[in-house]
Amino acid sequence: MYGGFLGNILTRVMIWMLCGLKCLSFGLNSFMIPSFWFAYISTHSFIYCRLVFAISSPPHYKIEYYFLATAHIAVLMMNYVEHTYAGTQNESGDEQLHLDIDSDNAVFAAIRASQVFWIAASEETPVETNVGPASGLATGNMFSLGFDPLDGSSIIDANFSVGSIFGIWPGKGVLGRKGSEQVASAVAVHGPRTTLCIALGASAVSTQKPIVLEVTLVHNRHTWELSRDAIHIQDEGKVFAPGNLRATNDNPQYNALVQHWISNRYTLRYSGGMVPDVYHIFAKSKGVFSNVSSEKAKAKLRLLYEVAPLGFMVECAGGVTTHEAHDQSVLDIPIEDLDQRLGVCFGSAKEVALYKQFMFTNGGATKK
Ligand code: AHG
Ligand code: MN
Ligand code: MN
Repeated sequence: MYGGFLGNILTRVMIWMLCGLKCLSFGLNSFMIPSFWFAYISTHSFIYCRLVFAISSPPHYKIEYYFLATAHIAVLMMNYVEHTYAGTQNESGDEQLHLDIDSDNAVFAAIRASQVFWIAASEETPVETNVGPASGLATGNMFSLGFDPLDGSSIIDANFSVGSIFGIWPGKGVLGRKGSEQVASAVAVHGPRTTLCIALGASAVSTQKPIVLEVTLVHNRHTWELSRDAIHIQDEGKVFAPGNLRATNDNPQYNALVQHWISNRYTLRYSGGMVPDVYHIFAKSKGVFSNVSSEKAKAKLRLLYEVAPLGFMVECAGGVTTHEAHDQSVLDIPIEDLDQRLGVCFGSAKEVALYKQFMFTNGGATKK
């Protein structure tokens, strides 16, 4: 419905109106995402951000996603003075901050309001939860969401950047699905700026080419502006983010790889938060992120809430992902358990190839 010439014009008009004329400076004449636009409504101190993107072909693929959650979480974060524990644990046994719970609630409220999701599961609510409209009210295509409302809860008290991660699957349910089935993913970073990076898979774009773009929350957190219209990851880049470095003690392949990065004068960019650490690759268009496990330092990252959505974004931007211990895109790993964990490597194609060379050869990793 919105494909082709008419869709392009409509999209540009919408973006100009809603993101402001600044879009012109991003060269939007060549900006070919006829399926995407933003709307926002601001009332008093409550910020409502509505992200709508319609899939152009065939028309019934039109979908709507409501991302008021990011703006809401930004306001929540800004008003927290202390990061106190709620005295509760999530199902994985992690201590929950009040902010973990508030952020989780903000996302659930947003997606319930959207009426386009059947099911949602999160790090803090790790069950497939029905969030769909009352039976009979569902119209059009519906989706399911896996999310981490607050990634980086152990570094937020230090005022490091933290994030939120969203993976969007078509249909009902996330169990048994693969990351490659996602139609889109989104990652918010709460740092000096609040940004939202959005990956649209090939099926969500009329050109059939995946795209990754970024918007920034501005004007006292009332407006979203397009800040990058196309994010691409170059094939190489000597910037490294070596997660779970404690595993180098009893994982000799990982130790050798880290020594290689150091002796070849790679630049270290590591914060301890997966979102900013991977986002650094998007920002600089290059680099490598690893989070590798060992017998004594177990894998921590969750496939559903963290790895699949971020991995989808990396691959949409032209980067490569792999399971830590065998040559397989993280998007091809089925989600068999909501709490499934794994080690990974993400980033520039040649850097991930180097990772595989160190980790998978010469009697390298044999783990599943
Ligand atoms: P969360 O705050 O959602 O529990 O996840 C934090 C994760 C991830 O962001 C990061 O890469 C990893 O924990 C770091 O773990 P360690 O500090 O244990 O290395
Ligand atoms: Mn997390
Ligand atoms: Mn979390």
